Amino acid sequence: MSGLGEVSEGARAILRELSRVVVGYDEELKLVLAALVAGGHVLLEGVPGVAKTTMAKGLARLLGLDGLETTLDGAPFRGWSRVQFTPDLLPSDVTGSLVFNPATREFEPRFGPVFCYLLLADEINRAIPRTQSALLQAMQEREVTIGGRTYRLEDLDRGKFFFVIATQNPVEQEGTYPLPEAQLDRFLMRVIVGYPSSMEVEKEVYRLHLYRATEPIEDLEPVVEPGWAARARVAVAREVKVPEHVLEVAVRLVRLTRPEVYEPISRYFELGASPRAGISLLKAAKAYAALEGRDEVRLEDLEAVAFPVLNHRLLPNTESVVELSVSGRRFTARYEVVKEGLYKALNEAKKS
Ligand SMILES: Nc1ncnc2c1ncn2[C@@H]1O[C@H](COP(=O)(O)OP(=O)(O)O)[C@@H](O)[C@H]1O
Ligand SMILES: [Mg+2]
Repeated sequence: MSGLGEVSEGARAILRELSRVVVGYDEELKLVLAALVAGGHVLLEGVPGVAKTTMAKGLARLLGLDGLETTLDGAPFRGWSRVQFTPDLLPSDVTGSLVFNPATREFEPRFGPVFCYLLLADEINRAIPRTQSALLQAMQEREVTIGGRTYRLEDLDRGKFFFVIATQNPVEQEGTYPLPEAQLDRFLMRVIVGYPSSMEVEKEVYRLHLYRATEPIEDLEPVVEPGWAARARVAVAREVKVPEHVLEVAVRLVRLTRPEVYEPISRYFELGASPRAGISLLKAAKAYAALEGRDEVRLEDLEAVAFPVLNHRLLPNTESVVELSVSGRRFTARYEVVKEGLYKALNEAKKS
């Protein structure tokens, strides 16, 4: 099967199975999968109890990562690891360190949980900045140094990818360390996980749990093998095309988010998107198109990923946020301002 054929077939199976146990988040799940095949990492933001952890664990099972153990260049890798970020977690608890082995009288590397395919970094904003930085650096560089020796976390030719799903609760303020704006863009996307969208969906969620003693994700069996995601990334990068008119709209959109470029936007944004954000936008749109079974990006793909890719890379206008906040929407004001501003910019970008 051709590269992209394998991508869309695997993706369809993953999304079908995952949406049976994570109810009502079809779009969110698709975005997470798009981030994986685009070679990015994802930040899931939402209050506790909306299935963020469940999404990550379910995906790990479907990708064939549960129970997987491999070695690469002398380092052991687990299929997936979960790290609960807490204020006393140290950088070496994430990456690893040298420890003294009394039997051999030598220092040996102890490999941290980052040595895996899929890392679930739960409640990342509860760890101290130094620990957050250690993870963010590993995400960016896709390698880790322990005792002077550098280990690669990724080798696509050998089927080894490295994918981080971090979660955070935006509401909790006490005892948290918000990720610095400048580091948030290590995440290809920030996916906002809200409450179930309707009465019907919520009822469905409850029904799923009514008569069972275990978590529904425990029934999930792998639908692809781990090498699928590594091959998917290469196929998407090389084979999905971006037509000139889509590139044009993407560039216009990015430029329009800069308040100094387009006056009507200054109500929404204090700072606009960078070229890096624009590149990320196109990479994500390519992945999204591939999940839809296409080898060419359409405007609808760009629209689907614009908010998830850009929302954490733009600084919303403070006055607009405050204005919305006092009308009672304290926790969603920032998202709403960004969403509306992006919507305006996108409409403008499509004209011409
Ligand atoms: N939309 C949903 N579909 C299926 N199960 C859900 C959904 N929302 C919440 N749950 C269930 O609620 C519990 C909490 O989910 P969890 O993933 O731990 O949430 P979070 O990580 O967001 O705090 C789990 O048992 C999960 O299965
Ligand atoms: Mg959780």
